[in-house]
Amino acid sequence: MNISDKSLKYLIITISIVIPVVVTALRYLPSPELSAEATAQIRGLSKLNAIINGTTFFILIGAWFAIKNKNIGLHKKLTTVAMVLSVLFLLSYIVYHFCVPHIEYCNEYKTLYLFILISHIALSAVIVPLALYTYLRGSKMEVERHRKLAKITWPLWLYVTATGVIVYLMLDGCPPPQL
Ligand code: HEM
Repeated sequence: MNISDKSLKYLIITISIVIPVVVTALRYLPSPELSAEATAQIRGLSKLNAIINGTTFFILIGAWFAIKNKNIGLHKKLTTVAMVLSVLFLLSYIVYHFCVPHIEYCNEYKTLYLFILISHIALSAVIVPLALYTYLRGSKMEVERHRKLAKITWPLWLYVTATGVIVYLMLDGCPPPQL
């Protein structure tokens, strides 16, 4: 089946609207009642999310080196892994935040923390359409359009993944909310 560019464009726009709406809605939905075992497992997801973010960061660095060495095949494989990891991250993030209310920051440097957190959240929403369009243009070998987009997508995506890990580390030691 050959999906038209227009349909893909609508699909990307829909995905880019639905994800932030779902993520924002999570804040207002009541958390489900869970057993102690399930609660411990769900809390472990925040570490998994940080590991996925960190791994995606290094995979994106690898994809950049691959394309600088003109290895398009490896570049494609690595960016595909980065896309798959981002989908896994999103699923894990949704499950985690559906079950666990957000943790209050409890250490020094609150202003720095808020700057990193807010820029991370804002750019996470922006990166969804950017990564999807960049991937689409790359897959279709529309090289010039892909390169133009990739020059914005790649550094922003790196920032989002790196700050995801930094936010996790900065919350270290802060008491988890009671479920
Ligand atoms: C969202 C995923 C992707 C990202 C973030 C990404 C990122 C990049 C970056 C940073 C460049 C170098 C731009 C420059 O400085 O000139 C590039 C070039 C390129 N990418 Fe991707 N890429 C992605 C997916 C893909 C895919 C799926 C393909 C398919 C094969 C692909 C094929 C290429 C090609 C052919 C070039 C140009 C190489 C050249 O200049 O000769 N990319 N990409």
